[in-house]
Amino acid sequence: MSSKRILVIGSSGQIGTELVEGLRARFGNEHVVASDIKEPQVEQSGPFVMVDAMDRRGIERIIDKYAITEVYLLAALLSATAEKDPAFAWKLNMESLFIVLELAREGKLKKVYWPSSIAVFGPSTPKDHTPQHTIAEPSTVYGISKQAGEQWCAYYHKRYGVDVRSIRYPGLIGWKSAPGGGTTDYAVHIFHEALKHGRYTSFLGPQSTLPMMYMPDAIRATIDLMEAPAGQVKERTSYNLAGFSFNPEEIAAELRRHVPALVLDYAPDQRQAIADSWPRSIDDSAARTDWGWKPDYDLAAMVDDMVLNLRRELGA
Ligand code: SER
Repeated sequence: MSSKRILVIGSSGQIGTELVEGLRARFGNEHVVASDIKEPQVEQSGPFVMVDAMDRRGIERIIDKYAITEVYLLAALLSATAEKDPAFAWKLNMESLFIVLELAREGKLKKVYWPSSIAVFGPSTPKDHTPQHTIAEPSTVYGISKQAGEQWCAYYHKRYGVDVRSIRYPGLIGWKSAPGGGTTDYAVHIFHEALKHGRYTSFLGPQSTLPMMYMPDAIRATIDLMEAPAGQVKERTSYNLAGFSFNPEEIAAELRRHVPALVLDYAPDQRQAIADSWPRSIDDSAARTDWGWKPDYDLAAMVDDMVLNLRRELGA
């Protein structure tokens, strides 16, 4: 067993739920401490502690008690929720990052993982095959917090030698956990509604093409990036990462292979403007070159696996 001991902050969310499972499978149940202000979505096979991501003392106590060496900080307000309370979104997203970066600077942590997002890009960004380095003028408070956070990560790395690593996730799709307040959440909801009711009303219009990824790929990428030798991690802001891209019409067409009578209605809301500001597809060649990233799932394989697992889960 390794001496690695991991703390996941924000473990009850969409990514955290599956990441904790992935980390425990790889490093052992007792080596991964899950923490959140919310109860877990699934039964825990290792330690779980309630803590607020903005409570520095609380986090420090957990790090000391469990001899934590690495933190994965996932607590955040996502794009749609953040627009409802910009001030709180900024506070949570930035304060939690500073706490962890400072703990690492003080030598209490060997490594830090912090997620960024395609939300760092904005309306002036090239929309197709968006490069690793390009115009990034985000129009949401979530995007601004991620972009600023990326720069702080790079700063702590350069100035203090903090080993912090990051991925710009596209929309993430999985069956084990519920998404929480993002613009890409429709791509998860549509599966549940299609299998339960054969009908879904999309809050994004039919032509809203966005970059997406299946959760098993995202989890593997995250752990692979954290396990890569430090010298291979050249981007110290955050890595572009791509799976596949689709719009509501295209995902519905794929789903009709399993639910032929699926009816899709449209009622775009305020999330449409956020989607319109984001790229359609992402160039992830830097991640491929630097640490060997390659996705396993394309759109069709993701849909097949989602339907198989959700049918079993829902008894549908
Ligand atoms: N999926 C996220 C969101 O929609 C993007 O990071 O907010």
